[in-house]
Amino acid sequence: MKIIKVKDSDELAEKAMKIVVNMMLKIEKPVIGLATGSTPEKLYANLVERVQKGDISFKHTTTFNLDEYVGLSPDDPTSYHYYMEKHLFSGIDIKKGNAHVLNGLAEDLEEECERFEQLIEDAGKLHMQILGLGLNGHIGFNEPGTPFDSRTHLVDLDAMTIKANSRFFNSIDEVPKKALTMGIGTIMDAERILFLVQGEKKADILRKVVYGEVTEEVPASILQHHPNVTLITDIDI
Ligand code: GLP
Repeated sequence: MKIIKVKDSDELAEKAMKIVVNMMLKIEKPVIGLATGSTPEKLYANLVERVQKGDISFKHTTTFNLDEYVGLSPDDPTSYHYYMEKHLFSGIDIKKGNAHVLNGLAEDLEEECERFEQLIEDAGKLHMQILGLGLNGHIGFNEPGTPFDSRTHLVDLDAMTIKANSRFFNSIDEVPKKALTMGIGTIMDAERILFLVQGEKKADILRKVVYGEVTEEVPASILQHHPNVTLITDIDI
């Protein structure tokens, strides 16, 4: 794992943006996995700026989001559809049909997961997956105990995740209890992983992820086995 230590969230977003832009300039039809949460917000703002300056274009880019809550409509401000529209899609020139986010309102959720996996397969592969880290070591919404070879699936959210994400909702009772997420196997198939972790509160879990035992109890620890991970963090680890 390559580790880039930065001083703050601005430097993190700047460095991450440059890595994404370089990849986009090298690959004719980039396929990118996207994350939500507070960590990548500034990265997305930087990418929007580069598109608006005319430096890059998403016209030939396809994206796949890591995860989505079950039961929230795309116009619900707490859904990841809404987040992506607000922070990235509305500011860039991506073709509507090329920005894929799991549908948490699908009647048959298992079928939705299979459809999503198929779309990724049809796209070839993810050239880059942008990834954040949950306080309990989750990636996407793959909670502790998720098999390392899992594909896109329906999950019950951990109590810790519900609590951590309640800051985006009016009350903890409004946080959905279920979500759809790319599996750990799906994430590990990405050619390159851009792993973004910020904030002292994640210091302990990040040390376990990077230096600890590779165990399904710490989902992100599997990244130690991925051949091309770049971690950008403001944490001294
Ligand atoms: C959520 C998302 C994850 C994200 C994590 C960290 O649970 N499902 O994909 O990485 O939160 O978010 P934050 O960057 O806000 O700490």
